[in-house]
Amino acid sequence: MLDVARHFQPVAYLRRYVDLLALHKLNVFHLHLTDDQGWRMPIAAHPRLTEIGGHRAESMIGPSRSTRYDGTPHGGAYTAAELRELVAYAAARGVTVVPEIEMPGHVRAALAAYPELGNDPGRTLDVWTRWGVCENTLGVSDHVLDFFRTVLDETMEIFPSAHVHIGGDECPTTEWERSPAALDRVRREGLAGPGALHPWFMQQMTDHLVRAGRRPVAWAETGTTLPEECTVMSWREPAHAWAAARRGQHVVFADHRATYFDYAREEGDPGLLAQSGLVVDLPAVHGLDLTPPGDGAAAADRVLGASGQLWTELVATPAHIEYLVYPRLCALADRIWGGAGDYADFTARLDGHRTRLDALGVPHARPPFATAA
Ligand code: ACM
Repeated sequence: MLDVARHFQPVAYLRRYVDLLALHKLNVFHLHLTDDQGWRMPIAAHPRLTEIGGHRAESMIGPSRSTRYDGTPHGGAYTAAELRELVAYAAARGVTVVPEIEMPGHVRAALAAYPELGNDPGRTLDVWTRWGVCENTLGVSDHVLDFFRTVLDETMEIFPSAHVHIGGDECPTTEWERSPAALDRVRREGLAGPGALHPWFMQQMTDHLVRAGRRPVAWAETGTTLPEECTVMSWREPAHAWAAARRGQHVVFADHRATYFDYAREEGDPGLLAQSGLVVDLPAVHGLDLTPPGDGAAAADRVLGASGQLWTELVATPAHIEYLVYPRLCALADRIWGGAGDYADFTARLDGHRTRLDALGVPHARPPFATAA
């Protein structure tokens, strides 16, 4: 999973990203196309999504809750032709591109473009310049549902993948709790309260994708609240994956402690430009635990695989992307294809493989930027 919403990357770079995935026998490229800080997916019916939502005035510098900004406008968006070419380029290399359109949270860029999608249509919001969890979410009117069905229709026209990701993570309910229209929707649908609008919204979009013959995918917040037709990507806790698998859902492991490559690579990493907090070192990635819990043998059949994530709040350049992704993605590929093997054996093989990474110009060993140390 590469986040091109926080920092846009041109499609020429995405082709290189695909080449590196194919080299490691990774067969799905999950492209995170929309978020609070940028909308990169062209939608002909709603052009302001990219015209306005594709650009932000500046970016927050430093860790979460920082109050510093860089003052530099930033943006970009793909054309439909570019994305179609990327899909074909990837397919020729055995890689399926799975698009992600975030909803009903992580939508501030869409709200900046079309304020009527929000819970307070009279309000003007900018494309978000902060990082973190934004309290602004989609409204729940029929118009909003139709708008996002159209977004998904155009997305499906470009991406033929069986799976289509519809986000679902980190969606505060504060605006719905205060919105008369949202509370009215709760009453009309017979829901338990504003919190139930999240699964309800996800179900509406799931139904739309299923009717179109696709398989919806979403991030798990708990493992038990996503529509049963959804494939579940568990990022907070492996237990969420197993809970979903026991309910009969397909799951993809994306545990942040082992697969979030925006976290520092090692203790004392100059890592200034990685997310602060946890370290995800090579042993952590290679040790990703896919063993079912005691009662989970049947559920193990529902594990589709695992995914490495690169969120790009603090990552603007291809060299920085590759420094964070490699060699950790090598460890993940080895773990997924090879099973829970011997770490020493992996690192011995990785030593040889590093020669290939060098030849390809992947900055896997040292930060490709000046460090304080
Ligand atoms: C996530 O990290 N919000 C999926």
